[in-house]
Amino acid sequence: MKAVVYDRYGSPEVLRVEDVALPSPAAGQVRVKVAATSLNLSDWECLTGRPAYARIGGLRGPAHRTLGSDIAGVVDEIGDDVTGFGIGDEVYGDNLALMGGFAEYALAPESVLIRKPAGLTFAEASTIPQAGAIALQGTRKAVAGSRVLINGAGGGSGSFAIQLAKRLGAHVTGVDNAAKQDFMRSVGVDEVVDYGREDFTRAAPAYDLILDLVAHRSVFAYRRALARGGTYRCVGGNVRSLLRVLTAGSVTGLVTGRSIGVLVVREGPAHFKPLADLCVAGEVDIHVDRVFALDEVPAALARVGEGRALGKVVVAPS
Ligand SMILES: NC(=O)c1ccc[n+]([C@@H]2O[C@H](COP(=O)([O-])OP(=O)(O)OC[C@H]3O[C@@H](n4cnc5c(N)ncnc54)[C@H](OP(=O)(O)O)[C@@H]3O)[C@@H](O)[C@H]2O)c1
Repeated sequence: MKAVVYDRYGSPEVLRVEDVALPSPAAGQVRVKVAATSLNLSDWECLTGRPAYARIGGLRGPAHRTLGSDIAGVVDEIGDDVTGFGIGDEVYGDNLALMGGFAEYALAPESVLIRKPAGLTFAEASTIPQAGAIALQGTRKAVAGSRVLINGAGGGSGSFAIQLAKRLGAHVTGVDNAAKQDFMRSVGVDEVVDYGREDFTRAAPAYDLILDLVAHRSVFAYRRALARGGTYRCVGGNVRSLLRVLTAGSVTGLVTGRSIGVLVVREGPAHFKPLADLCVAGEVDIHVDRVFALDEVPAALARVGEGRALGKVVVAPS
Protein backbone atom coordinates (compact mmCIF):
# COMPACT_ATOMS: atom_id res chain seq x y z
CA MET A 1 0.00 0.00 0.00
CA LYS A 2 1.01 3.63 -0.36
CA ALA A 3 1.89 5.61 2.77
CA VAL A 4 3.39 9.01 3.50
CA VAL A 5 6.42 8.38 5.72
CA TYR A 6 9.18 10.36 7.48
CA ASP A 7 12.21 9.45 9.58
CA ARG A 8 13.27 12.77 11.11
CA TYR A 9 11.59 15.90 12.41
CA GLY A 10 11.53 18.76 9.94
CA SER A 11 9.53 20.70 7.38
CA PRO A 12 7.07 19.01 4.96
CA GLU A 13 10.04 18.25 2.63
CA VAL A 14 11.07 15.37 4.93
CA LEU A 15 7.87 13.53 3.92
CA ARG A 16 7.79 11.06 1.02
CA VAL A 17 5.29 8.58 -0.43
CA GLU A 18 6.48 4.95 -0.17
CA ASP A 19 5.13 1.50 -0.93
CA VAL A 20 4.98 -0.27 2.43
CA ALA A 21 3.68 -3.67 3.54
CA LEU A 22 -0.05 -3.92 4.24
CA PRO A 23 -0.27 -4.10 8.08
CA SER A 24 -2.19 -6.86 9.86
CA PRO A 25 -4.36 -6.05 12.86
CA ALA A 26 -3.29 -7.35 16.28
CA ALA A 27 -5.81 -8.49 18.90
CA GLY A 28 -8.33 -5.75 19.60
CA GLN A 29 -7.44 -3.87 16.42
CA VAL A 30 -9.12 -3.42 13.05
CA ARG A 31 -7.62 -2.43 9.71
CA VAL A 32 -9.35 0.52 8.08
CA LYS A 33 -9.25 1.30 4.35
CA VAL A 34 -8.82 5.02 4.82
CA ALA A 35 -11.23 7.21 2.88
CA ALA A 36 -10.38 10.48 4.62
CA THR A 37 -8.01 11.78 7.29
CA SER A 38 -8.37 15.29 8.67
CA LEU A 39 -5.31 17.24 9.75
CA ASN A 40 -4.80 18.69 13.21
CA LEU A 41 -2.19 21.08 14.50
CA SER A 42 -0.90 18.05 16.44
CA ASP A 43 0.13 16.46 13.07
CA TRP A 44 2.17 19.56 12.24
CA GLU A 45 3.71 19.54 15.73
CA CYS A 46 4.68 15.84 15.37
CA LEU A 47 6.16 16.58 11.92
CA THR A 48 8.32 19.46 13.11
CA GLY A 49 8.98 18.14 16.62
CA ARG A 50 7.96 21.54 18.03
CA PRO A 51 6.79 22.49 20.66
CA ALA A 52 8.94 20.13 22.76
CA TYR A 53 5.92 18.15 24.02
CA ALA A 54 5.51 16.86 20.44
CA ARG A 55 8.64 14.73 21.07
CA ILE A 56 7.13 12.82 23.98
CA GLY A 57 7.65 9.17 23.00
CA GLY A 58 10.03 10.19 20.19
CA LEU A 59 12.94 12.13 21.67
CA ARG A 60 15.50 11.29 18.97
CA GLY A 61 13.15 10.79 16.04
CA PRO A 62 9.44 10.50 15.22
CA ALA A 63 7.48 7.98 17.27
CA HIS A 64 5.37 7.11 14.20
CA ARG A 65 6.59 6.76 10.59
CA THR A 66 3.20 7.81 9.26
CA LEU A 67 1.17 10.66 10.76
CA GLY A 68 -2.57 11.27 10.59
CA SER A 69 -4.82 10.47 13.54
CA ASP A 70 -8.36 11.56 12.63
CA ILE A 71 -9.36 8.77 10.26
CA ALA A 72 -12.59 7.76 8.53
CA GLY A 73 -12.98 4.72 6.31
CA VAL A 74 -14.18 1.14 5.95
CA VAL A 75 -13.13 -1.82 8.12
CA ASP A 76 -11.46 -4.37 5.82
CA GLU A 77 -9.84 -6.76 8.33
CA ILE A 78 -10.38 -7.48 12.02
CA GLY A 79 -7.99 -8.83 14.65
CA ASP A 80 -8.74 -11.40 17.36
CA ASP A 81 -11.14 -10.39 20.11
CA VAL A 82 -12.74 -7.57 18.10
CA THR A 83 -16.42 -7.62 19.00
CA GLY A 84 -17.78 -4.22 17.98
CA PHE A 85 -17.07 -4.13 14.25
CA GLY A 86 -17.20 -6.35 11.19
CA ILE A 87 -15.70 -6.14 7.71
CA GLY A 88 -17.44 -3.46 5.67
CA ASP A 89 -18.43 -1.22 8.59
CA GLU A 90 -17.98 2.50 7.97
CA VAL A 91 -16.12 3.98 10.94
CA TYR A 92 -14.24 7.06 12.14
CA GLY A 93 -12.22 8.14 15.18
CA ASP A 94 -9.07 9.73 16.59
CA ASN A 95 -6.26 7.18 16.26
CA LEU A 96 -3.80 9.25 18.32
CA ALA A 97 -1.86 6.32 19.79
CA LEU A 98 -1.11 4.59 16.46
CA MET A 99 -1.58 7.38 13.89
CA GLY A 100 -1.07 6.15 10.29
CA GLY A 101 -3.95 7.95 8.57
CA PHE A 102 -1.80 9.34 5.75
CA ALA A 103 -1.85 5.92 4.08
CA GLU A 104 -4.25 3.75 2.12
CA TYR A 105 -4.81 1.50 5.17
CA ALA A 106 -4.38 2.13 8.91
CA LEU A 107 -4.57 -0.05 12.01
CA ALA A 108 -6.65 1.22 14.91
CA PRO A 109 -7.79 -0.18 18.27
CA GLU A 110 -11.52 -0.79 18.02
CA SER A 111 -11.96 1.30 21.18
CA VAL A 112 -11.12 4.57 19.38
CA LEU A 113 -13.63 4.03 16.57
CA ILE A 114 -17.33 4.51 16.17
CA ARG A 115 -19.72 3.88 13.27
CA LYS A 116 -19.92 6.77 10.80
CA PRO A 117 -23.40 8.31 10.61
CA ALA A 118 -24.96 7.92 7.15
CA GLY A 119 -25.63 11.66 7.16
CA LEU A 120 -21.92 12.56 7.08
CA THR A 121 -19.44 11.98 4.27
CA PHE A 122 -16.11 10.36 5.17
CA ALA A 123 -14.39 13.73 4.78
CA GLU A 124 -16.90 15.40 7.10
CA ALA A 125 -16.71 12.63 9.71
CA SER A 126 -12.90 12.80 9.74
CA THR A 127 -13.00 16.46 10.84
CA ILE A 128 -14.81 15.72 14.09
CA PRO A 129 -12.90 13.45 16.53
CA GLN A 130 -9.94 15.50 17.82
CA ALA A 131 -11.18 19.02 17.08
CA GLY A 132 -14.67 18.09 18.30
CA ALA A 133 -13.46 16.68 21.61
CA ILE A 134 -11.39 19.84 22.22
CA ALA A 135 -14.27 22.14 21.25
CA LEU A 136 -16.89 20.30 23.34
CA GLN A 137 -14.75 20.13 26.48
CA GLY A 138 -13.34 23.63 25.99
CA THR A 139 -16.75 25.31 25.75
CA ARG A 140 -18.54 23.30 28.43
CA LYS A 141 -18.53 26.27 30.82
CA ALA A 142 -20.03 28.70 28.30
CA VAL A 143 -23.45 29.88 29.48
CA ALA A 144 -26.09 32.26 28.16
CA GLY A 145 -24.97 35.85 28.36
CA SER A 146 -21.36 35.01 29.29
CA ARG A 147 -18.42 36.56 27.43
CA VAL A 148 -16.32 33.85 25.79
CA LEU A 149 -13.02 34.39 24.00
CA ILE A 150 -11.44 31.72 21.79
CA ASN A 151 -7.77 32.28 21.00
CA GLY A 152 -6.93 30.56 17.69
CA ALA A 153 -10.61 30.53 16.72
CA GLY A 154 -10.01 30.38 12.96
CA GLY A 155 -8.58 26.84 13.03
CA GLY A 156 -10.10 23.37 13.18
CA SER A 157 -11.10 23.23 16.84
CA GLY A 158 -11.94 26.92 16.85
CA SER A 159 -14.58 26.73 14.13
CA PHE A 160 -16.47 24.09 16.16
CA ALA A 161 -15.87 25.90 19.48
CA ILE A 162 -17.33 29.16 18.12
CA GLN A 163 -20.55 27.40 17.12
CA LEU A 164 -20.87 25.45 20.38
CA ALA A 165 -20.38 28.56 22.52
CA LYS A 166 -22.91 30.47 20.40
CA ARG A 167 -25.44 27.64 20.76
CA LEU A 168 -25.10 27.96 24.54
CA GLY A 169 -26.00 31.64 24.27
CA ALA A 170 -22.57 33.17 24.88
CA HIS A 171 -21.20 36.36 23.36
CA VAL A 172 -18.15 35.08 21.47
CA THR A 173 -14.92 36.84 20.52
CA GLY A 174 -12.56 35.06 18.11
CA VAL A 175 -8.83 35.80 17.94
CA ASP A 176 -6.75 34.80 14.93
CA ASN A 177 -4.62 36.24 12.12
CA ALA A 178 -5.84 38.95 9.75
CA ALA A 179 -6.66 36.51 6.92
CA LYS A 180 -9.09 34.56 9.14
CA GLN A 181 -11.25 37.43 10.39
CA ASP A 182 -13.95 37.05 7.70
CA PHE A 183 -13.95 33.28 8.14
CA MET A 184 -14.53 33.62 11.90
CA ARG A 185 -17.39 36.04 11.21
CA SER A 186 -18.94 33.60 8.74
CA VAL A 187 -18.80 30.86 11.40
CA GLY A 188 -20.68 33.12 13.82
CA VAL A 189 -18.41 35.09 16.17
CA ASP A 190 -19.76 38.35 17.54
CA GLU A 191 -16.38 40.07 17.61
CA VAL A 192 -13.00 39.44 16.05
CA VAL A 193 -9.47 40.31 17.14
CA ASP A 194 -6.45 40.22 14.81
CA TYR A 195 -3.64 38.99 17.03
CA GLY A 196 -1.11 40.74 14.80
CA ARG A 197 -2.59 44.12 15.68
CA GLU A 198 -4.09 43.71 19.12
CA ASP A 199 -3.30 41.90 22.37
CA PHE A 200 -6.63 40.64 23.70
CA THR A 201 -5.27 40.52 27.25
CA ARG A 202 -4.79 44.30 27.23
CA ALA A 203 -8.17 45.31 25.85
CA ALA A 204 -11.35 45.60 27.91
CA PRO A 205 -13.66 43.82 28.54
CA ALA A 206 -12.77 40.92 30.78
CA TYR A 207 -14.01 37.47 29.75
CA ASP A 208 -15.91 34.82 31.70
CA LEU A 209 -14.33 31.98 29.72
CA ILE A 210 -11.15 31.91 27.62
CA LEU A 211 -10.37 28.82 25.53
CA ASP A 212 -6.77 29.13 24.36
CA LEU A 213 -5.69 26.82 21.53
CA VAL A 214 -2.28 28.49 21.16
CA ALA A 215 -1.10 29.76 24.57
CA HIS A 216 2.05 31.87 24.56
CA ARG A 217 1.52 34.51 27.23
CA SER A 218 2.15 34.83 30.97
CA VAL A 219 -0.30 33.74 33.65
CA PHE A 220 -0.63 37.40 34.65
CA ALA A 221 -1.79 38.37 31.18
CA TYR A 222 -4.48 35.67 31.30
CA ARG A 223 -5.54 36.75 34.78
CA ARG A 224 -5.84 40.32 33.51
CA ALA A 225 -8.15 39.19 30.69
CA LEU A 226 -10.48 37.23 32.99
CA ALA A 227 -13.50 38.58 34.81
CA ARG A 228 -13.77 37.71 38.50
CA GLY A 229 -15.05 34.13 38.72
CA GLY A 230 -13.90 33.52 35.14
CA THR A 231 -12.15 30.45 33.73
CA TYR A 232 -9.07 30.23 31.48
CA ARG A 233 -8.20 26.88 29.86
CA CYS A 234 -5.43 26.25 27.34
CA VAL A 235 -5.08 23.08 25.27
CA GLY A 236 -1.93 23.86 23.28
CA GLY A 237 0.78 26.44 22.82
CA ASN A 238 4.41 26.90 23.69
CA VAL A 239 5.87 24.80 26.48
CA ARG A 240 6.94 27.80 28.57
CA SER A 241 3.39 29.13 28.72
CA LEU A 242 1.86 25.72 29.35
CA LEU A 243 4.29 25.08 32.24
CA ARG A 244 3.59 28.51 33.73
CA VAL A 245 -0.15 27.86 33.56
CA LEU A 246 0.33 24.43 35.14
CA THR A 247 2.48 25.74 37.98
CA ALA A 248 1.59 29.38 38.72
CA GLY A 249 -1.86 29.25 37.14
CA SER A 250 -3.79 27.52 39.89
CA VAL A 251 -2.27 29.67 42.67
CA THR A 252 -2.77 32.92 40.77
CA GLY A 253 -6.32 31.93 39.97
CA LEU A 254 -7.08 30.96 43.55
CA VAL A 255 -5.88 34.18 45.13
CA THR A 256 -7.62 36.36 42.54
CA GLY A 257 -10.97 34.55 42.37
CA ARG A 258 -10.41 33.05 38.92
CA SER A 259 -9.67 29.56 37.57
CA ILE A 260 -6.56 29.25 35.37
CA GLY A 261 -5.40 25.88 34.08
CA VAL A 262 -4.62 23.45 31.28
CA LEU A 263 -7.43 21.42 29.74
CA VAL A 264 -6.30 17.82 29.33
CA VAL A 265 -8.66 16.71 26.60
CA ARG A 266 -10.33 13.35 27.12
CA GLU A 267 -10.28 11.31 23.93
CA GLY A 268 -12.54 8.66 22.53
CA PRO A 269 -15.92 8.33 20.83
CA ALA A 270 -17.94 9.34 23.90
CA HIS A 271 -16.15 12.69 23.83
CA PHE A 272 -16.81 13.60 20.20
CA LYS A 273 -20.06 11.82 19.30
CA PRO A 274 -22.26 14.60 20.76
CA LEU A 275 -20.76 16.98 18.20
CA ALA A 276 -21.32 14.51 15.35
CA ASP A 277 -24.98 14.28 16.42
CA LEU A 278 -25.27 18.08 16.23
CA CYS A 279 -23.65 18.09 12.79
CA VAL A 280 -26.03 15.39 11.50
CA ALA A 281 -28.96 17.37 12.90
CA GLY A 282 -27.73 20.43 10.98
CA GLU A 283 -27.17 22.42 14.17
CA VAL A 284 -23.40 22.74 13.76
CA ASP A 285 -21.69 23.21 10.40
CA ILE A 286 -18.52 21.44 9.30
CA HIS A 287 -16.05 23.73 7.53
CA VAL A 288 -13.79 21.76 5.21
CA ASP A 289 -11.08 24.08 3.90
CA ARG A 290 -9.77 21.76 1.17
CA VAL A 291 -9.40 18.07 0.32
CA PHE A 292 -5.93 16.88 -0.80
CA ALA A 293 -4.76 13.61 -2.41
CA LEU A 294 -2.29 11.34 -0.58
CA ASP A 295 0.73 12.59 -2.52
CA GLU A 296 -0.24 16.14 -1.57
CA VAL A 297 0.12 15.56 2.20
CA PRO A 298 3.22 17.84 2.40
CA ALA A 299 1.19 20.70 0.88
CA ALA A 300 -1.77 19.91 3.13
CA LEU A 301 0.40 19.98 6.26
CA ALA A 302 2.08 23.21 5.17
CA ARG A 303 -1.36 24.78 4.76
CA VAL A 304 -2.21 23.95 8.39
CA GLY A 305 1.26 24.70 9.81
CA GLU A 306 1.59 28.01 8.00
CA GLY A 307 -1.85 29.10 9.16
CA ARG A 308 -3.60 29.32 5.78
CA ALA A 309 -6.38 26.80 6.47
CA LEU A 310 -9.89 28.11 7.08
CA GLY A 311 -11.47 25.28 9.06
CA LYS A 312 -10.36 21.68 8.54
CA VAL A 313 -7.97 20.34 5.90
CA VAL A 314 -8.65 16.77 4.76
CA VAL A 315 -6.56 14.16 2.92
CA ALA A 316 -8.39 11.50 0.89
CA PRO A 317 -5.98 8.53 0.49
CA SER A 318 -8.34 6.35 -1.54
N1 LIG B 1 -4.57 19.29 25.67
C1 LIG B 1 -4.80 18.20 24.93
O1 LIG B 1 -5.08 17.15 25.48
C2 LIG B 1 -4.73 18.28 23.43
C3 LIG B 1 -5.11 17.22 22.60
C4 LIG B 1 -5.02 17.36 21.22
C5 LIG B 1 -4.57 18.57 20.67
N2 LIG B 1 -4.20 19.58 21.50
C6 LIG B 1 -3.74 20.90 21.02
O2 LIG B 1 -4.90 21.64 20.72
C7 LIG B 1 -4.59 22.64 19.77
C8 LIG B 1 -5.69 22.53 18.70
O3 LIG B 1 -5.38 23.19 17.59
P1 LIG B 1 -6.21 23.04 16.23
O4 LIG B 1 -6.06 21.66 15.68
O5 LIG B 1 -7.54 23.64 16.36
O6 LIG B 1 -5.22 23.98 15.43
P2 LIG B 1 -5.38 24.86 14.14
O7 LIG B 1 -6.47 24.33 13.29
O8 LIG B 1 -4.02 25.03 13.55
O9 LIG B 1 -5.85 26.23 14.80
C9 LIG B 1 -5.00 27.05 15.57
C10 LIG B 1 -5.25 28.48 15.14
O10 LIG B 1 -4.52 29.36 15.98
C11 LIG B 1 -3.98 30.41 15.18
N3 LIG B 1 -2.87 31.06 15.86
C12 LIG B 1 -1.54 30.81 15.77
N4 LIG B 1 -0.86 31.64 16.59
C13 LIG B 1 -1.77 32.42 17.21
C14 LIG B 1 -1.68 33.48 18.16
N5 LIG B 1 -0.51 33.90 18.62
N6 LIG B 1 -2.82 34.05 18.60
C15 LIG B 1 -4.02 33.64 18.13
N7 LIG B 1 -4.17 32.65 17.21
C16 LIG B 1 -3.06 32.05 16.76
C17 LIG B 1 -3.61 29.69 13.92
O11 LIG B 1 -3.48 30.56 12.83
P3 LIG B 1 -2.03 31.07 12.27
O12 LIG B 1 -1.03 30.02 12.59
O13 LIG B 1 -2.25 31.32 10.87
O14 LIG B 1 -1.78 32.36 12.91
C18 LIG B 1 -4.81 28.76 13.72
O15 LIG B 1 -5.85 29.41 13.01
C19 LIG B 1 -3.16 22.35 19.31
O16 LIG B 1 -2.29 23.24 19.96
C20 LIG B 1 -2.89 20.92 19.79
O17 LIG B 1 -1.56 20.67 20.09
C21 LIG B 1 -4.28 19.45 22.85
